Amino acid sequence: MMIALLALSGCRFYQDDAGDSSPPPALPYGACDPVILIPSGVLVDSPISAEPHQAVFGAEPEPWHVRYQWPSMDPSRSAAFLWRTDVDTLASQIRIAPTREWPNGAETLDGASFLFGSGTVGQGEQRIHELRLCETLEPATTYTYQVGGEGHWSGEISFTTPGPPGSFDTFRVAFAGDSRGAYDTWEQMIKAMETHAPDFYVFSGDMVELGVNQEEWDAWFDAGDTVFGSKAMVPAHGNHEFLAQAYFAQFALPGNEEWFAIQYGGLLLLTLNDTVRGNEEVSVIQAGFIDETLSAYPSQWKLAQHHQAAYSSSGTHGSKASVRDAWVPLFDKHNVNLVVAGHNHVYERSVPIFQDSESPTGTTYMVSGGAGAPLYTSQDEQWFSAVFNPIHHYVIADFSAEQVDVVARDLDGNVIDSFTLTAAP
Ligand SMILES: [Fe+2]
Repeated sequence: MMIALLALSGCRFYQDDAGDSSPPPALPYGACDPVILIPSGVLVDSPISAEPHQAVFGAEPEPWHVRYQWPSMDPSRSAAFLWRTDVDTLASQIRIAPTREWPNGAETLDGASFLFGSGTVGQGEQRIHELRLCETLEPATTYTYQVGGEGHWSGEISFTTPGPPGSFDTFRVAFAGDSRGAYDTWEQMIKAMETHAPDFYVFSGDMVELGVNQEEWDAWFDAGDTVFGSKAMVPAHGNHEFLAQAYFAQFALPGNEEWFAIQYGGLLLLTLNDTVRGNEEVSVIQAGFIDETLSAYPSQWKLAQHHQAAYSSSGTHGSKASVRDAWVPLFDKHNVNLVVAGHNHVYERSVPIFQDSESPTGTTYMVSGGAGAPLYTSQDEQWFSAVFNPIHHYVIADFSAEQVDVVARDLDGNVIDSFTLTAAP
């Protein structure tokens, strides 16, 4: 049955009746859009459309930087696959089947590819291949896949879809942020996090120093190359990405890729963007998104991630007042369990906060900005700070129906903090 469903999917290319490329119609937040259309960045004024698969191979057609991503609010039934080749290769195919049917039951599907990089520094145009499967996968199922094209397939890679939204099984999430400029440390961190076998990764922004520098992006993806094909990475947009087209080109995320929600079993994960084109995108548009989404999708666990922390005692950046004013009342209203940010290159955990005061049933605000960027050691005295540690680190969270056990560790695996979240009464 899965194969029949898959045959209905694959990518399509937006053309209006006159044959002109045009922006696709707006989709609801979180809907899976099979159309590949990369929006313009702040330095590039043209969106990018994809071109369909053709059996054309250039000088380096073997895929690299193969990645599994979530282009939909529902990762139990949708997935995106991205990979790189040389610029001349137009073969964009995937072979995929539930692992129990691999290889004889594998179906070959056509994807698309596009060139980006006119606004980058260092390396010029790059080709990315992409295919999105929208609402055709089976929940809680392990798949095997290869990408590329006939004669030039990648190695076999596996991933496992979660159970359907609202279902509950235990799972583990790895958090990190602010790797910019320190890709050896970032690689060490990926390896350290992977020893805990998380189900997926969350990164609260500032992957690179300069969002238009492709050499940095390549180093960032190199560091995760053995992981990102089988485990999804959910990034938030940081100020160092500064709305560069390279950011939108290299991730396949729900909606506008800046603010979106993902339902992973009993978890609702909101991703928000605090580096915006105008203040109303924080104070009005994303505030509305937060309120609407948390109202529409009551969940056992509610997390939000964004880049510039609402609460931090770091003496370098500290708290972002506009974010705190606009979003914290909504986190209060909907009993959000945990808010994760970075930007301050430290580990920090707040006391539980409700209505800007300590409250045992309030929201915990965590800053995890220690994935390699230079550490910020100065701290201002603040009532809300429970733990402050300027150290390179990562965070592992174990979710069950009853509680979330969160452990922060340094690069050597030493525990630097641990705490437990319980569901709001
Ligand atoms: Fe930042």
